[in-house]
Amino acid sequence: MSAVLNAAVIADAPVRPFEPGPTGTHITIRGLTKYFAGWPLYENFNLDIPKHKIVSVFGPNGCGKSTLINMIAGLIPIDSGQILFDGKGLKDTKIGYVFQNYREAMFPWMRTIDNIAYPLKLEARGKAEVDRRMAELVASFDVKFDLNRYPYELSGGQQQTASIMRALAPGPEVLFLDEPFSALDFEMTLFIREKLQEVFMHTGTTMLLVSHDLEEAVYLADEVLLLTKRPTRVAEILQYADARPRTVATLSEPSFIAAKKLSLEIFQREVRR
Ligand SMILES: Nc1ncnc2c1ncn2[C@@H]1O[C@H](COP(=O)(O)OP(=O)(O)O)[C@@H](O)[C@H]1O
Ligand SMILES: [Mg+2]
Repeated sequence: MSAVLNAAVIADAPVRPFEPGPTGTHITIRGLTKYFAGWPLYENFNLDIPKHKIVSVFGPNGCGKSTLINMIAGLIPIDSGQILFDGKGLKDTKIGYVFQNYREAMFPWMRTIDNIAYPLKLEARGKAEVDRRMAELVASFDVKFDLNRYPYELSGGQQQTASIMRALAPGPEVLFLDEPFSALDFEMTLFIREKLQEVFMHTGTTMLLVSHDLEEAVYLADEVLLLTKRPTRVAEILQYADARPRTVATLSEPSFIAAKKLSLEIFQREVRR
């Protein structure tokens, strides 16, 4: 019954001409609608995600942070709407995805190095090119562990480092990260945060980072996308422009503290609403 109802609602939605985002937009989301079991999660949702920026996605538990990035990354189908990357569809866009659960993210029968190189092999790149790219990645991540080991022989932090390397191997235009630090200890979290920031400063890859830790969300972000409870809307988009690299000292900067405080106020306003 609800499926029939959804279909009717969608069929009646007005078809508007596509409105591009402002200059500097990478991902344009227009009229995005997604129902689960007859209940709206997103309804006619619009958003512009800037290019060469890190956007942190923050909001109440269950508001649809993972679903949003999974729909953009094409892992979950949308009911209706349009998502374009520089005006192109997903099939013409190179993306990388880092999962929260690194234990299930890699092929256990492949050595870590082969897991990382896997996307390059899928692209049918030659051996010399794969080797060159792998050497580049290993150098930029300053890898201290043995990549010839199998993933299950590595620590959690090492596995997550490897899965970030794999996501970056083909040089994606957009990198999606769904709570990439949540299963890591604090030391490893700090290490991977720094690595991500270095990669970003070096490549400018657009990153969409879901985090349930507000401090971390702000620390890494150029923009904090604050979402409401479902049906989910944009509560506010907060700019945080402190220079990179951000360091431990950043955490006590007045500008950082102000951005965090404002994000928290918006979040609290939304959960109480
Ligand atoms: N496959 C599914 N079937 C039904 N409901 C789902 C499914 N996936 C997610 N949901 C619901 O959609 C909402 C958003 O989920 P999710 O995107 O995982 O939230 P978040 O990542 O913000 O915590 C939640 O209420 C969740 O229960
Ligand atoms: Mg989630």
